[in-house]
Amino acid sequence: MTTLKYVFPQGFKWGTATSSYQVEGSNLNSTWAPFEEKSGTILNGDRSGAACDWWAGSRWKEDFNRASANSQNAHRLSLEWSRIQPKPDVWNEEALDGYRQMIRGAISNGLKPLVTLHHFSDPIWFGEIGGWENPDAPQIFNRFVEKTVSALKPLVSDWIPINEPNVYVFNGYLIGNFPPQKKLALRSALKVLVNMLRGHASAYETIHRIQPEANVGTSVNVHGFFPARNNLRDRFLSRQFDHVFNGSFLDVIHNGSLSLVGYRINEKKVKNTQDFVGMNYYTASQIQTSTKWTEIMTFPEGTMLSDTGFIGHEPEYFEKMLLWAKKFKKPIIITENGTENRDDVFRRTYLAEHLISMWRAISKGASVKGYYHWTLVDSFEWERGWIHPFGLWELDRETQKRTRRDSADFYKQVISKNALESEDILHFAPDVFKRSIGE
Ligand code: BGC
Repeated sequence: MTTLKYVFPQGFKWGTATSSYQVEGSNLNSTWAPFEEKSGTILNGDRSGAACDWWAGSRWKEDFNRASANSQNAHRLSLEWSRIQPKPDVWNEEALDGYRQMIRGAISNGLKPLVTLHHFSDPIWFGEIGGWENPDAPQIFNRFVEKTVSALKPLVSDWIPINEPNVYVFNGYLIGNFPPQKKLALRSALKVLVNMLRGHASAYETIHRIQPEANVGTSVNVHGFFPARNNLRDRFLSRQFDHVFNGSFLDVIHNGSLSLVGYRINEKKVKNTQDFVGMNYYTASQIQTSTKWTEIMTFPEGTMLSDTGFIGHEPEYFEKMLLWAKKFKKPIIITENGTENRDDVFRRTYLAEHLISMWRAISKGASVKGYYHWTLVDSFEWERGWIHPFGLWELDRETQKRTRRDSADFYKQVISKNALESEDILHFAPDVFKRSIGE
């Protein structure tokens, strides 16, 4: 019988990723809190509420125990700026202490912390002074970075200043799904992105000044784009999507500049401000010219989809994006990858084929050092509320009870062997086994 064995590099980091607003609960000083109260902002009128009760109930303890028993050796978490700095001139030392305990808890469970300083959530006071449109935003953010990194440096050396600035700007400033609900023209939205690039670069410098040995990287959402039809217009538009969405942050951090149609980003100070390339990969879309937005970006007919159609199963673009990222000549970390799925059948297929794609990219020279599955426990999915269960553990929000999904067992096999092997693929994702041997 054919056997399959995909072995990963020694010392590989295997973990899950979470973000503060999505798991902590009761984050009342974030711009998301008043946003949630407005009608029509969150699907089905959902609320983050107690979320996974990581703050008031310290349930990170039980979740880190789970991750550890699952053989994971790393965890990516984020800190809530609005908790640590609830007012411009107020530092909440108790909150910092809460995070100290949380991070110590991760470490004592054998989970190496990778800490994000901004994951989609801003303090209300920061929003009131213009948020990331304020030209001083990079310096304002930098004060928080300086305070927090100085406090936590004995525990953390791997940092990500800003999560997915491309998604944050797209949702918050182009289509208005996230606070501050703006619908700016592309050119103005790109200015917000430039401000975030500057925020990233000054955080990079600040962290290295405080902690010279630190590893500071990115966490950018990379999306595969391909033309729907083989004509000039679709090919052109697909390339533009790729430049704006995938390149506007990562290429500028690498080169200091980027030319887009009718707009040039020139930020010399931003050049070379990443020690690793952090990539969040979920899916890929076909692009076609159309006057209707809903027709421009779609999944091709017949694509395997997650429960609500939010994620199309496109593992080959995962490999392509990893090979694309080789040009940055830095270690690569998959800071997020996963899917929503309630019955957990699709998730196991998705997990297997994305790990195979990652292995292929590694065997073709992509220097991937770690993989953080999104996510540990079902959590609050922003403007989509609670309809998207991404967790290896299912969350019952009434009781806070967690139930392990089979994907968690599958992930544990992979981590324990540092390899994806036939018997586990056959057991957890038999369809993938058949496809892999060409049946
Ligand atoms: C974000 C996460 C989010 C995930 C799944 C990523 O874009 O960083 O916060 O939960 O996608 O929707």
